[in-house]
Amino acid sequence: MPKFLKIDFVAWATPDASAGRTLVAFAGADMNFGPMTEAALAPAREHIARAAAIAKFKGGRDKTLDLPAPAGLACDRLLIVGAHDSGDEPANWTKSGGVAAGKIGRGKKTTVLFEPPAAIEDAPAAAADFALGLRLRDYRFDRYKTKKKDDEAETEAGEYALAVSEPAAAKRAAKSREAVAAGVLMARDLVNEPANVLTPVVFADHAKKLEKLGVEVEILDEKAMRKLGMRALLGVGQGSENESRVVLMRWRGAKTEGKPLAIVGKGVCFDSGGISIKPAAGMEGMKGDMAGAACVVGLMHALASRKAKCDVVGAIGLVENMPGGTAQRPGDIVTSMSGQTIEIINTDAEGRLVLADVLWHVRKALEPAAIIDLATLTGAIMVALASEHAGLFSNNDELAARIDAAGKKTGETVWRMPLGKGYDKLIDSKFADMKNTGGPHGGSITAAQFLQRFVDGAPWAHLDIAGTGMGSPASDINESWGSGWGVRLLDRLIADHYEV
Ligand code: BES
Ligand code: MN
Ligand code: ZN
Repeated sequence: MPKFLKIDFVAWATPDASAGRTLVAFAGADMNFGPMTEAALAPAREHIARAAAIAKFKGGRDKTLDLPAPAGLACDRLLIVGAHDSGDEPANWTKSGGVAAGKIGRGKKTTVLFEPPAAIEDAPAAAADFALGLRLRDYRFDRYKTKKKDDEAETEAGEYALAVSEPAAAKRAAKSREAVAAGVLMARDLVNEPANVLTPVVFADHAKKLEKLGVEVEILDEKAMRKLGMRALLGVGQGSENESRVVLMRWRGAKTEGKPLAIVGKGVCFDSGGISIKPAAGMEGMKGDMAGAACVVGLMHALASRKAKCDVVGAIGLVENMPGGTAQRPGDIVTSMSGQTIEIINTDAEGRLVLADVLWHVRKALEPAAIIDLATLTGAIMVALASEHAGLFSNNDELAARIDAAGKKTGETVWRMPLGKGYDKLIDSKFADMKNTGGPHGGSITAAQFLQRFVDGAPWAHLDIAGTGMGSPASDINESWGSGWGVRLLDRLIADHYEV
């Protein structure tokens, strides 16, 4: 488990602004503070006003004013965070937490006067979101750095105290965010791990640990997969020394029996491209081609930790795509578990082959209410959307709208892309039922059409996270290469629509 920041919620009567600490306060437009904050900052009011004027700081959201040794206060440093909305974007307290943590730095003792000047609907939830942002920003992946630079050295662990008006309510709200934070950090760790360490078998072992939280975990080895006829998936893994695995996880937290929601993830632990080998430049990034599966495991961890009242199945297909002597060739034809045959045109279009069998198995064995898959599926989605949105494809408008809304709420935004008969035709094959590539154009769409052939009409959505799951630019809430993208979105979606 990644290191977890210590965060406390305390009553206003006790905020600690003593020497050695950093104090965080929220300012509105024209440098107005809430009454409690105003009282706490009174001795430094002149210093603050002058500094704000010189820095032209006007309290705009997530702008900051950093004052070391603020005159009249005992604390080492005062960080003022703008909380004034310009109106075009709703307040995002998770992002604000990330901004503050970025400015403060790691290993500091900090008191946050959580009293935004403008009224907020649910203050305990806002404080909990802020704490989530602190945790997400604090994360880094430095397990393999044996020599730490000065600013990276483990000094003391960071500690935050959030002074809030209702500490008990904030603590309650923060509990579920802690579960989500742990899920995101777990997903990031998995994405960041190199492929010599995180093989399919080792990945499956990590998923197995969810049993401690009450998740039912079933691991299918190659023998079990052969018996089920998962030849599309097995074909991808056959060029690797590392065996393939499928992991099925079930969290039964719903009070009543019903159909589960299924979340399926692409887990290509390394994608060399296989015989259709990728160019050398950037190939190291293909250790992250399991970001979809990492998200599923992180999500299951979050749901079980917060005891979500839902019935959710997580299913991941874990393989390594390598060009060994036993590797699958272009021109090969494989029979998928569904019985549909696939002509392999390009062994680098492997994710859809893995998902084909996992989707089909989930669809037939569990009859889920809906299926959502996440996959670093195509480079083409980055051409279309960069790292700003994940591509959303769906055969169900209601499901698509729900995912879109959860994306907007969490900041993990999606952009819906089209599906249609014309695109579907592009993957018809001369020799088999279909081929695994659809030509040079609309690559993300033809990949999604391929997946759709394995859900047999069930309500389904596919998220192409090639641009968002890994390697996206550092953000206010993530400095590491792996992002854990999707854990927060799906947790929100489930909280809003699948908990009873
Ligand atoms: N894992 C890749 C997609 C990818 C590319 C993810 C870059 C993240 C960053 C996927 O398996 C792949 O290779 N897709 C091919 C499909 C093509 C051969 C039809 C692609 O996008 O080029
Ligand atoms: Mn590939
Ligand atoms: Zn891939």
